[in-house]
Amino acid sequence: NAIVPIPQPPTHWFTRNLPEMDPSFPISSLWRLAAVYGDIFKLDLVTRQAVVISSHELINEVMDESRFRKNPTGPLTELRALLGDGLFTAYWNEENWHRAHRILMPVFGPIQIRKMFPDMVESELAFDMIGLCGYGYRFNSFYRDEIHPFAKDMAAALIEAGKRANRPAVENYLRIKSAEELNNNIQSMWKLCDDLVAERKRNPKPEARDLLNTMLNSSDPQTGEKLSDENIRFNMVTLLVAGHETTSGTLSFLFYLLLKNPETYHKAQKEVDEVLGDGLLTLEHLPKFKYIEAAIRETMRFQGPIGILNISAIEDTIIGGKYRVSANETIICSIQGLHRDRRVWGEDADVYRPERLLNGGWEKLPPNAWKPFGNGVRACIGRFFAEQEMIIATAMILQRFQVSMVNPSYELRLKSTLTVKPDGFKMRAVRRPGKS
Ligand code: HEM
Repeated sequence: NAIVPIPQPPTHWFTRNLPEMDPSFPISSLWRLAAVYGDIFKLDLVTRQAVVISSHELINEVMDESRFRKNPTGPLTELRALLGDGLFTAYWNEENWHRAHRILMPVFGPIQIRKMFPDMVESELAFDMIGLCGYGYRFNSFYRDEIHPFAKDMAAALIEAGKRANRPAVENYLRIKSAEELNNNIQSMWKLCDDLVAERKRNPKPEARDLLNTMLNSSDPQTGEKLSDENIRFNMVTLLVAGHETTSGTLSFLFYLLLKNPETYHKAQKEVDEVLGDGLLTLEHLPKFKYIEAAIRETMRFQGPIGILNISAIEDTIIGGKYRVSANETIICSIQGLHRDRRVWGEDADVYRPERLLNGGWEKLPPNAWKPFGNGVRACIGRFFAEQEMIIATAMILQRFQVSMVNPSYELRLKSTLTVKPDGFKMRAVRRPGKS
């Protein structure tokens, strides 16, 4: 087969393809360019070259871990200032990734996550859940008028990291004040985590089987080594960032989509009433929420919080039978391209329809058609945690409250704080009559 060049938007002599990117919402630029240039195109972003792919066929090919692996570039490189060699931002060859992966994987397995059920039911927001289940720390987001300073610092740091990745290096260099603010935010997030570690060391809680104890006390089953204090700090912040941004974004999209498609809202609420009635939620109820599970999975297909997966070929190779990519060149997989590919999802790919994942629909999906949690060894370690947490939150809200949009004519607008979220979406919750 003949090799063909990968299409590329025209370049400027100095800024190359950078002007194509909207620094405050870079993923939206990729969607726009994919509509113009198709399933594969190239970008020269001055400091890095990237090939962007947006179809199931191509993404299915590059999910093969014998040929491709995660390559943290762009915003993930910027985030290393905060998250270092923590799980999310670690490079493939960093020993600390392997060590932390082996130490933490067992605590994120389904059985351990089921044991966190009581703490999950008690805490009420994504942030609080990781704080409490993970580190025995109460952010108490519901009991304070102001957002917790950690959450504020985190939001600011993520936005700045995203912008830095899409600005010319000179501009980053000149923005001394932004760099200073970013550094201050990072220092105060680190301090909270360091304080928690110090407190746990002063007052050990041998009975707590939480993430903090695991990180402090467990050793790598392969080498016997423990995590360093610095790596514990990076992973503590990583779990708070990775767990909070994504789960809260997904729940916001879920409620937006349920409210915009009222028949789905009614079905979900009916399921909660049938499974739970007025009773207390227990672990045994969770597998019975089939419709809610489908509604959450369909939300993550339709509009998940993570827009891209960055990978690279291990060796120079050809993809799609005709496009040459070199080793270590960034390949950006557009999750939206994958999740809205009509060749896989059908003509109604742009419609929110949880039913498509029921009655065998889920089982019939082709390989790698649904990838909101990433791929292979670098897939989301918190997947069971997130799925359990989101079902609990949805069931408890629907059981007790009637939810509506503050502005019923609101149409989805997106914003990006590194992850994608609804912009300006507000809900109102009123107690359902007769529900305590
Ligand atoms: C990795 C999505 C919840 C911790 C990832 C990746 C995705 C993802 C796509 C891979 C990123 C990449 O390839 O660059 C999500 C979604 C969530 C969610 C959609 C919720 C709806 C959580 C939670 C936690 C968590 C609750 C922790 C408590 C992590 C970590 C990694 C990761 C540590 C890095 C894993 C590694 O590379 O070893 N997540 N995540 N995530 N996620 Fe999640």
